[in-house]
Order: sequence, then structure tokens, then C-alpha cells
Amino acid sequence: MNQHAKVTALFFSPTGGTRAYVEEIAGAMSDHVETWDLTRPEVRRQSRSFGSDEVVVLGVPVYYGRVPEVEGLLDGLTGSDTPAVLAAVYGNRAIDDALAELADLCAARGFRPVAAGEFIAPHTFSAKIGAGRPDEADREAARALGKQASDKLDKPDWTQPQLPGKRPYREFQVAPFYPEGDSRCVQCGACVRTCPVEAISSQDPRQTDSERCLRCLACVRACPTGSRAVRSMAYDATVDKLEHALVQPRQPQLYL
Ligand SMILES: Cc1cc2nc3c(=O)[nH]c(=O)nc-3n(C[C@H](O)[C@H](O)[C@H](O)COP(=O)(O)O)c2cc1C
Ligand code: SF4
Ligand code: SF4
Repeated sequence: MNQHAKVTALFFSPTGGTRAYVEEIAGAMSDHVETWDLTRPEVRRQSRSFGSDEVVVLGVPVYYGRVPEVEGLLDGLTGSDTPAVLAAVYGNRAIDDALAELADLCAARGFRPVAAGEFIAPHTFSAKIGAGRPDEADREAARALGKQASDKLDKPDWTQPQLPGKRPYREFQVAPFYPEGDSRCVQCGACVRTCPVEAISSQDPRQTDSERCLRCLACVRACPTGSRAVRSMAYDATVDKLEHALVQPRQPQLYL
């Protein structure tokens, strides 16, 4: 890769797992990385064009085996046949069709996948699943992806990687639970500011727009009083099932 090529780290990452991997990959490609945090709605509303001499590293978490259903996720980004290194970060179950979908979304915005990886982070619904990830071996794999993508870009006739996933993609599901606040809410607004899709009422932060809500649980983590939580038997059953099924740690996969 041209030593002077500009590298931009792009990620949607409500709970930080995806961000950690994207920054590791991009950091292995350049010492000067620009960051665009697509988790923030105000950033997604901005426009940014990328030249063919630039490189982007783009990561998303896997939700239901897909790219999270965020309206206009990549709408502000325009590439000019710009090489893209893709990352799908998941909670130790599976990525299913997420990388295939991400590659298609990229292509529609003018980006060309040069390399991709799937990586494991703690599962949103249980800190026990994927605990301690990324560990040093995960970070090493992420850096290897960045370095190998850079080497690949040195070859003028590089081809796109074969990515896993089926088309049509698996059907998008919506979990039958979402967080809400209770009487402990002190109206601090932390959850309102944290929500990546503006699903929490600033008038009454105990309320959630269940249609918009992604179930990312960033608001639950941000709440200083324990007011916001998922209080549902369906959630407890899901957590229990996942914790029993996802014991065996999965390992990163790179696609070049
Ligand atoms: C609604 C929802 C659906 C999810 N679906 C999957 C899945 O299909 N497979 C999986 O392994 N992890 C799944 N996860 C876990 C996330 O992919 C994982 O926790 C990821 O690291 C979160 O990324 P972030 O920390 O960047 O927000 C899901 C999480 C949420 C909130
Ligand atoms: S309201 Fe929903 S989308 Fe918003 S932060 Fe909470 S869980 Fe995520
Ligand atoms: S973060 Fe918690 S206490 Fe603060 S406004 Fe939201 S629900 Fe209320």
C-alpha cells in the first residue's frame, strides 16, 4: 500500500467491541488514522467522499446474523472505487450473512472490499460470552489483517476476497424485549445522549421507542442509577440459552 495513503476508521459500535478491532486493523495500516464514529447519529448525517488513493476500514457488529438495521448507516459515505477492509464483530455465535451484506452495502456506496475479518467481542446480552475479547491473540489477528491488506494493495491487480454468507440474506429478526427506565430515573439524560438511533424520549427518558430501538443496550450501560434495564422473562430466557450454547470460544477468521 502507498505509504502515504490516508486510512479512515469507520465503525458502528454501541458497546465498543467493534471499535476496538477497527482501530487495531487501521493502526496496523497507518500511523495517522482518521476516525468516523458512525454510532453517532450526527456523524451519520454528515457527508464524506473518499478518493481511490485512500483506504477505509469499516466495522459493524453482527445483529441476528446481519448488519444492524440502522437507517442510512452508510448514506453519508461515498467512495471512488476506494479499497475497504471490512470487519464483522460478533458475540461468539456466528456472523451468518453479515460480511456478505456489508460487502454489498459498501459496493453500493463506491467501495471495493480488499480484505475482511470476523472477530469476537463480548455478547451484548451477556458479559460471560466473549469475556476478555479482544485478547492479545485477537489483536494480533486484527493487526495481521491490516498488514496483509496493505501488502495486497501493493499489487495493482488485486482481487476481492471470497466472503462467507448467503444471498438473499437471512431474515432480520427483532428481539421481543427492549430496555426501559423505572422510578430510579433522575433525568440525567445520559441514555438519551448515548442512544445511537435516538430511540429514547428526552422528555421522559424512561420511555423507549420500541420500533427504533436496536436492543444494543448502550443506554443500560450508560445509566448511572440502574434505572434503564431490560425487565422481561423473554430476555432472561434468551440470556440463559445463549450462555449455555456459546461456551466454546470461537476464533478470528481472515479473508484475503
Ligand atoms: C440485537 C442483537 C443481535 C445480535 N446478534 C448476534 C448474532 O447473530 N451472532 C452473534 O454472534 N452475536 C450477536 N450479537 C452480539 C454482538 O454481535 C456483539 O456483542 C458485538 O460485539 C457488539 O458490538 P459492539 O460492542 O461494537 O456494539 C447480537 C447483539 C445484539 C444487540
Ligand atoms: S434505546 Fe435501544 S437503541 Fe437506544 S441505546 Fe437503548 S437499547 Fe440501544
Ligand atoms: S441514564 Fe438512567 S437516570 Fe439518566 S435519564 Fe436515562 S434512565 Fe434516567
